[in-house]
Amino acid sequence: MCGIFGYIGEKKDAGEIVIEGLKKLEYRGYDSWGVAMQTGMGMKLKKDIGKISGVSAKDVSDVSSLAIAHSRWATHGGVTKENAHPHLSQDGTIAVVHNGIIENYEELKKELMNKGHTFASQTDTEVIPHLMEEYRKEGMSLQDALRTACGRFEGRYAILAFDATDHTLVAARTGSPLIVGIGKGEYFIASDIPAFLEHTRNVHYLDDGEMVWTDGKKIHFSSIETGEEKQKRTINISWKAEDAEKGDFEHFMMKEIMDQKESINRAVHQDDKEILRVAKEIETCLGCILSACGTAGKVCMAADYFFSVVAHRHVNYVASSEFKIYHHFLKPESLLIVVSQSGETADVLEAMKVAKEAGSKVLAIVNVEGSSIYRAADFALLINAGPERAVASTKAATGQMAVLLLIAYAVAGKLNEGRTLLLETGAKINDMLNPRYIEHIKGIAQKIHTHENLYIIGKSWNYPMALESAIKIQEVSYVHAEGFAAGELKHGPIALIEEGTPCIALMGNDEMTADMLSNIMELKARGALIIGVSPERYDSFDFWIKVPDSGPAQPIVNIIPIQILAYFLAVLRGKDPDMPRNLAKSVTVK
Ligand code: G6P
Repeated sequence: MCGIFGYIGEKKDAGEIVIEGLKKLEYRGYDSWGVAMQTGMGMKLKKDIGKISGVSAKDVSDVSSLAIAHSRWATHGGVTKENAHPHLSQDGTIAVVHNGIIENYEELKKELMNKGHTFASQTDTEVIPHLMEEYRKEGMSLQDALRTACGRFEGRYAILAFDATDHTLVAARTGSPLIVGIGKGEYFIASDIPAFLEHTRNVHYLDDGEMVWTDGKKIHFSSIETGEEKQKRTINISWKAEDAEKGDFEHFMMKEIMDQKESINRAVHQDDKEILRVAKEIETCLGCILSACGTAGKVCMAADYFFSVVAHRHVNYVASSEFKIYHHFLKPESLLIVVSQSGETADVLEAMKVAKEAGSKVLAIVNVEGSSIYRAADFALLINAGPERAVASTKAATGQMAVLLLIAYAVAGKLNEGRTLLLETGAKINDMLNPRYIEHIKGIAQKIHTHENLYIIGKSWNYPMALESAIKIQEVSYVHAEGFAAGELKHGPIALIEEGTPCIALMGNDEMTADMLSNIMELKARGALIIGVSPERYDSFDFWIKVPDSGPAQPIVNIIPIQILAYFLAVLRGKDPDMPRNLAKSVTVK
């Protein structure tokens, strides 16, 4: 969480560059913002509460060629101007922005207070510049001061810092992402690529335990622990700047929903050899576990059904935050498959660590090439969805399902059949996402947007999609939505149904239909208003959202109208679907 971005180079508008870039990282946190610039008059600091998207970069910037900026997702200390980053050293010369948590900050703070330091915020971050200042007083260079300070920290961090008196940008990473963008006569350092995508596509990925310093002309990398210098590979990334823009859409969420006209095809575009290799690993391993968080977790639950129905193979899902206890079952022959859009989720990285300690292999299915999860895995597949900026995951989720379904078909020895099904599904989604369809769903949202409770039911692979539907609706519209396995209704949740309660039934053209129709009748008998998402229309539906009949790809298709419904529920309730309250897109804290 939290976005950080720094610039050093020949340009004189460093402040503007970092603020504009940071607006593209706002999905990482958006309760307050701040920028520190090195100017002819020394350190210039501007910060405030609220979203950085509302800030005019020109108004807050000074002439400068070195700046760092931050958009915050509060952990330690409330949302106040004082707690917003950057934080300064006691003498005001060192500025720091930080993503992560310094777990032993209280102990360090006491030590510094005994030396006469005073603190202006409640954050853990503020100890960083103060501690660096102490090491600077001992005559250390800025990079040595940061390195020595890092040696004292417990926890996870990505730190960017500069000193008003020294034209050097320094950064260090342990547990939270940092990427260096290489420009002509300039360097960018950010928590994610979209920050500098309009300037360069050449990057160096910083690994855990590494730091970097640059004067804008030369760049140096080293181990934090030993100080030994390292060479880093330059990687050219394939994302284009316009992929990370909204275009004509009002919100990224709707843009990314519409991207699904093509993103399924891109997800299916995999190297056969790689897919067959993965299939072989699944066939030969002794125990295969899927793990992820949030929406990616619901995707994994759907994949349980894919492997069961298509490949007759038992695969288990465990939420990454719950994975640790499973170390008892892990062996060197076990296989862990992790799924993540960002490739940076802390709980997923932790699950991978547990599996690695047991000697198990790890396969990662991710969207962001070069991300921490991508690099830490034994092998990785990309879903090729392009940048996903809205907090609510849409095209990444369907892309992840497409890749997992393709793998299930490969395990069944039917890779071509799987690919054909998915390409056909991609084409059907392309047809489905037309303006009339979107208007129809908007019309349903208009009828139900004042309701505070909403339930979703499904069976088989539509059950995890009912859970995912609930996440989508909750996170953007703040309506209390809950998903259930349709058959579980009568064991408790049905008590919640009142006259007019909206209930969504997710269906396919399959052996579950008869049971689903019975469950719908049970709901209807208690007064529920039924919204059927199904290839066929049934009399029990009050509203019908038609979806193409897609066989085992049905969950991929069925979740899309719910994404649209969630979007309109948010908009009609006056909420910003791209930046829901309390959430962040990339959850890099445990
Ligand atoms: C956050 C996001 C979700 C996402 C989850 C896992 O909670 O808001 O949209 O599903 O993290 O993220 P990942 O990047 O690992 O898929």
